[in-house]
Order: sequence, then structure tokens, then C-alpha cells
Amino acid sequence: MPEKITVSLIKADVGSVAGHSKPHPRMMEVARNALSKGMQDGLLVDYYVTRCGDDMELLMTHRKGENDKEIHELAWNAFMSAASEAKKMKLYAAGQDLLTDAFSGNVRGQGPGAAEMEFEERPTEPMLVLMADKCGPSAYSLPISKIFMDPFTTTGLVIDPRAHLGYDLEVVDVVDHKTVVMSSPAEMYDILALIGDTTRYAVKRVVHREVGVAAVVSTEKLNMLADKYVGKDDPVMLVRCQSGLPAVGEVLQPFAFPQLVAGWMRGSHYGAWYPCSVDGSDPSYHDGPPRVCALGIQISNGRIQGLEPPDSGPGVHEPLDYFSGSEWDYVRNKAMEISIYMRGHGPFMPGIVSPDELEYTTRPDVLKKLEPRMKSMD
Ligand code: F6R
Ligand code: MG
Ligand code: MG
Repeated sequence: MPEKITVSLIKADVGSVAGHSKPHPRMMEVARNALSKGMQDGLLVDYYVTRCGDDMELLMTHRKGENDKEIHELAWNAFMSAASEAKKMKLYAAGQDLLTDAFSGNVRGQGPGAAEMEFEERPTEPMLVLMADKCGPSAYSLPISKIFMDPFTTTGLVIDPRAHLGYDLEVVDVVDHKTVVMSSPAEMYDILALIGDTTRYAVKRVVHREVGVAAVVSTEKLNMLADKYVGKDDPVMLVRCQSGLPAVGEVLQPFAFPQLVAGWMRGSHYGAWYPCSVDGSDPSYHDGPPRVCALGIQISNGRIQGLEPPDSGPGVHEPLDYFSGSEWDYVRNKAMEISIYMRGHGPFMPGIVSPDELEYTTRPDVLKKLEPRMKSMD
């Protein structure tokens, strides 16, 4: 039986240059050094350090399973080293997502986000690594619905006998911290009745009934974990592709619709989700707009294989950066048009999120101040 491999994508915003924009190269370097040490210690099979906007992304492969203490500690320490470099340079929001002073066994609940999947590697294992900035995990719910439940997006659901079975979706209630597994297509309308509410529900995991795990999203609700606002989740998603699972193109197609997602400036606005390359992911318009990157890799005997020569060694990779292509210029232009339109609302809804979702508010203070002047209309 083939050995199981785990892919862990753990991310955090631990500081950046000029506000919430881009981690400094020195921060990336120390994170790489930390993971390289993890390789030497035999913890990792391979790793790749990248970023989306101001978020550092640690992609790791190993044989220790999901939620492994040593792997999470390695990621935590890599973020701590990067945060310490950020502090030395007095960068902005240094250490922002490291909510506790000491690691306590698992990064979940401590600030960083994690998407992890353990599976038996197929004869060939194409994977997409999606990374978002300035939005929450429910941003992926619409694309997931299209990729795994909509035959008008994924023709494979209709014409590929291996895809025809459908998928099980694990839906998380991020407010009450509950989770439920539902089956598509049988329960498709029930699934949509929940996840259409992007203020509360998000899809955590998608499972093919024969192939196993197909997609995993980081669903940690950062702004609910800390006492005060410390940043949006800026979620990541791993998707296994092809051979009965959705084709790479079927996974990417939904991102051609620049849907409105909550986040953006101060985590409090609706903006059009902007697909971009890693290099193009600096948030340069009103701290945004919310963005998403898509990297293509192969998992090859546990190693990460991109376009680099096969003997490049661990940590040195060149994934296919899908949204760098000029096809996506059209979507980017459309997204910008929508985002500029949404900005026209200024501090009015629906340009801003509902009062419950605002991550900054002065309303309680304003109401308190006005209390003596508030007159009853009865
Ligand atoms: C959104 C984000 C930024 C900040 C904004 C204000 O996720 O990171 O839009 O919310 O720049 O930041 P502070 O309060 O740190 O000045
Ligand atoms: Mg930030
Ligand atoms: Mg961010």
C-alpha cells in the first residue's frame, strides 16, 4: 500500500513593510532557514515559503499526519523568527498573528491559519495551492460550490464516471464552532441554504467518496479568537486535481467571476476578489482589493515539484503561478471596476459590512454620548 503523505499549508501575518502590504525578504529568508532546519532534523520531506499580500505562507510536506505537534511547532518557530526580524526593523504589525507568547501544541487557535490534508499519493498528484489576502474563509464557499457541485462549471461531474459520485462537504459554523458533513448532490440545496450566509458558515473540507480528501480550507476565525481585532483570516485552500477530481481548469474557472467578499480595508468592506500572481499581490488600492493567488505543483513521492529542475533540492521550487497569465487581466480590470464602484459608498452599507461584522466601530461610544439627547418617538 502506498505510504501516506501530509501536505500542510500554514500561514500568518507577522509584519510587513509600509502598513499591511508585504513581508520583508529577510523575514522570508529566516522562515526558509527554519524549515530547512526542520528538513535536516527529519521532520519534513520538502517545503516552500511564499506569500500572498502581507501573509507568509509555509507549504510543507511530511509523513506525520494532520495537526502534528512537531510540524505546528516548526511553523510557529518559523513565524516567531520572522516576527523577530520584523520587530528589529520596526516593521508594521510585527508578530500580529502570534496571539500567545508561547506555543501550546497546535497553531490552531493561536493566530495562524492551517489547511492540511493527508492522503495516499496517486500515481501522479497535481495540486493547487490557493492563498488569499484581506478576506475571510467563507470567500471560498462560492468557488467551492461551483467546483464541486455545479455541473455547468465542472463538466466532469456529468461526463466523468469517477466524478459522477459527488462529494461530501464539511461545513463549519464559525460563530458557534460546530461542524456538519453534508452530501452533494443529494443535499445540495441544504448545503447552499447554510453556506450562502457568508457571515457564519464556511466549507472546511471536501471529500470524494472513493479518492478521499479533495480540498481543505483554513477556517480559523482570527477576529473571534482575540479580544480585539487583530486581522482577517486571509484563508488558504489546498485542492487535489485531475483523474476523477476536478481538472485544474475547473478549479480555476470560478475565480473568473470577481465575487464580492468581506474584508479589504480594516476588514470592514466588500470588495471584488482580485485574482493575481504572487508578485502582483501587494495590496495597493485602499489596502486591497481582496485578492487570491493560485499556485500549481505536483506532489511527487512527497516532494514538491514545480517547474524547477528535478535536482534543485528541497525548498527550491518554482510553482506554476496561474493568475499571472494575461487571460486574467480581463478579470482584474472587471474586479477593479467593481471595487471602485463599491468604494463609492464610502462608509455606507453595502460598501461596508453589517454592524455585527465591522472590525472597527465607534458606534457604542457615539450612542453613549448621545444617550442624554436621544428622545423617544412614542
Ligand atoms: C485589512 C488590513 C488593513 C488594516 C488597515 C488599518 O486586513 O490589514 O486594511 O485594517 O490598514 O490598520 P491599523 O489599524 O493597523 O492602522
Ligand atoms: Mg495584515
Ligand atoms: Mg493579510
